[in-house]
Amino acid sequence: MATGTAQGRVAVLISGRGSNLSALIAASQRGELGGDIVLVLSNKPDAGGLTLAEAAGIPTAVIDHRSYQTRETFDADLVARLAETNPDLVCLAGFMRILTPVFTDALAGKVLNIHPSLLPAYPGLHTHQRAIDAGDRYGGVSIHYVTGELDGGPVVLQAKVAIEPGDTAERLAKRVLVVEHDIYPVAARWHLEGRLRLDNGRALLDDQLLPATGVTWEAAQ
Ligand code: GRF
Repeated sequence: MATGTAQGRVAVLISGRGSNLSALIAASQRGELGGDIVLVLSNKPDAGGLTLAEAAGIPTAVIDHRSYQTRETFDADLVARLAETNPDLVCLAGFMRILTPVFTDALAGKVLNIHPSLLPAYPGLHTHQRAIDAGDRYGGVSIHYVTGELDGGPVVLQAKVAIEPGDTAERLAKRVLVVEHDIYPVAARWHLEGRLRLDNGRALLDDQLLPATGVTWEAAQ
């Protein structure tokens, strides 16, 4: 079982390789997450992150979306499974399903997502390619609270990564991923410590309303 110094209970939802999950596990094991990861839940039975969780002694679950007729019934089962663990925080970490209000309303204010763009720019997929194609100087990553709007909830923490001449989406993604692993545990810890919260659709850190792009990673360090 992952260990930590605080009492926060964290569930992590994944669909794939789980490198952000790995960063969250490592932070928890160092006592820097503000809580313990009590469940890793995947919608894909073959997600690599499940193996990482098992190796760390963390309980896992699979709820395969292909067994459901509607997004709502899938989301209802996710909510029910998560409720069994009574989480203080649910981290979406490469969880590739669009969530309905069945999920977002039930867990409002308790769900963070990591998205590989400088939100509000480039919600959705292919973020790095879109930033390169647009001639942007920076790509990056955002941590935001999850609301009913896809990749649209209030941003809490954001890190920029310079786009280099001749960059490819793959190369940029690799550099952004390194930063992803640094920033997600920090935002999770803020939430678990009670410093960060969602209030009336707005994100507050230490009772201060955050700007639309959240705290910059430079300022957070
Ligand atoms: C990351 O790039 C994350 O920002 C995005 O999905 C990817 C997941 O990667 N939401 P991993 O499974 O954490 O390695």
